[in-house]
Amino acid sequence: MKGHLHPKNNTTLNPSGNESILDVIGRVSMKRRRFVVTAASTSILAVLGDTTVSGLLQTATASTSTVPAGLGFAGIGFQSIEPNLRNPATGLLEKDLVTVPPGYTARILSAWGDPIMPGAPDWLPDASQGAAAQEKQVGMHHDGMHFFPLPGRSYYNRTSGLDVPVEGRAYNNKGLLCVNHEYTQETILHPDGNTVMTIEKARKSQAAHGVSIQEISKDRFGGGWSVDRNSRYGRRITANTEMRVSGPAAGDALMRSKKFSIQPNGSIEIGVNDGFTAYGTLNNCAHGATPWGTYLTCEENWNVYFANPSGDIESVPGLDQKLEIISGQSRYGIPTSSGYKWPEVDPRFNASTNPLEPHLFGWVVEIDPYEPNSRPVKRTSMGRFKHESAQYVVDDNNRLAYYMGDDERNEYIYKFVCSRTYDTKVRANNRDLLDHGTLYVAKFNDNGTGEWLPLVWGQRGLTPENGFNNQAEVLIKTRQAADRVGATMMDRPEWVAVRPRIRGFNEVEVYCTLTNNSRRGTTPASVNNPDGTTSGGSARPPVDAANPRQDNRYGHIIRWRETGRSVAATTFNWDIFVQAGDSQRTEPNLVGDINGDDFSSPDGLWFDYYGRLWIQTDHSGNGQGDLVNIGSNTMLCANPNSPRQVKLFLTSPTRCEVTGVITTPDHRTMFINIQHPGEGSTPAAPDSVSKWPHSQGYGPSGRPRSATVVITKNDGGIIGT
Ligand code: FEO
Ligand code: CA
Ligand code: CA
Ligand code: CA
Repeated sequence: MKGHLHPKNNTTLNPSGNESILDVIGRVSMKRRRFVVTAASTSILAVLGDTTVSGLLQTATASTSTVPAGLGFAGIGFQSIEPNLRNPATGLLEKDLVTVPPGYTARILSAWGDPIMPGAPDWLPDASQGAAAQEKQVGMHHDGMHFFPLPGRSYYNRTSGLDVPVEGRAYNNKGLLCVNHEYTQETILHPDGNTVMTIEKARKSQAAHGVSIQEISKDRFGGGWSVDRNSRYGRRITANTEMRVSGPAAGDALMRSKKFSIQPNGSIEIGVNDGFTAYGTLNNCAHGATPWGTYLTCEENWNVYFANPSGDIESVPGLDQKLEIISGQSRYGIPTSSGYKWPEVDPRFNASTNPLEPHLFGWVVEIDPYEPNSRPVKRTSMGRFKHESAQYVVDDNNRLAYYMGDDERNEYIYKFVCSRTYDTKVRANNRDLLDHGTLYVAKFNDNGTGEWLPLVWGQRGLTPENGFNNQAEVLIKTRQAADRVGATMMDRPEWVAVRPRIRGFNEVEVYCTLTNNSRRGTTPASVNNPDGTTSGGSARPPVDAANPRQDNRYGHIIRWRETGRSVAATTFNWDIFVQAGDSQRTEPNLVGDINGDDFSSPDGLWFDYYGRLWIQTDHSGNGQGDLVNIGSNTMLCANPNSPRQVKLFLTSPTRCEVTGVITTPDHRTMFINIQHPGEGSTPAAPDSVSKWPHSQGYGPSGRPRSATVVITKNDGGIIGT
């Protein structure tokens, strides 16, 4: 996310005084797209046991060749495309389009505002429609998504990583697409922006958040994919949808916020919630799925919808934890005012007068797309933080674990291990699997080993003397608990991706994008306080082996392997898969170790069913400053084996994030999302920055829209070949 309503990634230049081995190597290999595999990565790969690299330097030319298949990897067959750079004459990017390699086609499937259920009106380009229409239309600012095939629920196959039969019409030509809507851009959502706020605008904005479930199908006569606007599965989950709260924190006194009757013209206080009910999901960034065929949506920057103007809170009857609640609001970054301005018109979001409401956000939410009337469930066992994504592994003993990042500067990487095994045969036995288990946080040692530290009440100082009275409080205060046990502060953990165990590859290997960290290694040095009192994102930790760059402006991707191929392992080995950067720039600290095409700020990350790693980026996308040689945001495809290679597959329109990636099970249709075209425009001229997707032939002119894009290969082949 880069919206004006969101925390900025302040990537100020602060070059390192210490030249690292990467810098030395970078200086000898500055030619564009001719890169190096470093000695540092070689040594840790040796620990991991899959290295074929020998010697200090190994050059490769990725973009002009295909990438051969290898262990657990089917190869890459397309040619890299050129980056979408800024044209100095116009000051704009060369293309306000989604571009894919020759032999591939990108078409828009649906966009913000499109109707997806019975009774939904057509979208109007003047933004005059209100909340009632928006509640039946696709939400705004798409992010993570998953494809659930029809006609039936999918089942997990551990060997292939596939849910369903690979080929055949069934399962590949029809399905339910669950799409997250991360945030809204109020200057485009409303005809006049939100300088003057009203409850009607807040309700529309709330309705544009959450999740869309769209039934989509492929025309059997070659007409492509489309949305069934009258589908019985069509559904919107918004910032006001009633949900169940489950797991150890459900019902806790800290979860009993004020109860409101949520009406179109206002929220009326009617008592106190029971702690087992919540209303709405917010800032749904990335996502996950379960092996039993449900969707997980992750609540990321939910804090920015709240405001605590006074810095104080109203006393809560029966609770003597006033100072701890205030401190917790600071640890999670509740602001004094919200750019969304919902608290001005909707008292539910006033964190001073309704101080427990923030405790109902920051969770992973499970949604069953096949049951349109089912209540979403907030799974508190998976911890409360700024959840980016949640990806699972079922290991050889049918143990199930989820890997998750907390995306803020200096936050942590987590895993949740279910206490019961996954039942591959009886789906009902998995229904409450996510309510019971152990949450761990990662510690990355400088020698390439790591530890999973359990966040269990009574252990490692998670005791009443330190403010943790039970497991519910450990989970509600996950960040403070992780501070206490000594987790490793990371450079903004974004998506995680799990490498499929196919073609002879058997490890439990997990990757995580670390998008950037403007405060890493800067002065005055500081770390997250072990007593949990730090303000969110405020520390300036020194560089370490897992986060090796001062003022990490381009980001990197880290990966780890669980000891003994078990998700329940408490130790792992790790290395850095790639450091992003601009190979043409020579400033210390800026040259990465990319082996292939340049990129910056990795965010979306997904392994396809053939072992290809797809990387998506999220930076300003304007082609200026650090991005002069990188241009727009991109999607790339990487070989996870050595020599690792990265190839540029897709470039985005002007100033858009590329996010969300999934294919049909046969891998012949790929879906991706383009988020926030038109960022930086004004209500008076909403299409002054970008005209996408109209610029690519979709919909009327006048207002840019986040949208889902369908990518196919012209010969009907598998994406990536
Ligand atoms: Fe919403 Fe961390 O990206
Ligand atoms: Ca973004
Ligand atoms: Ca991001
Ligand atoms: Ca993201």
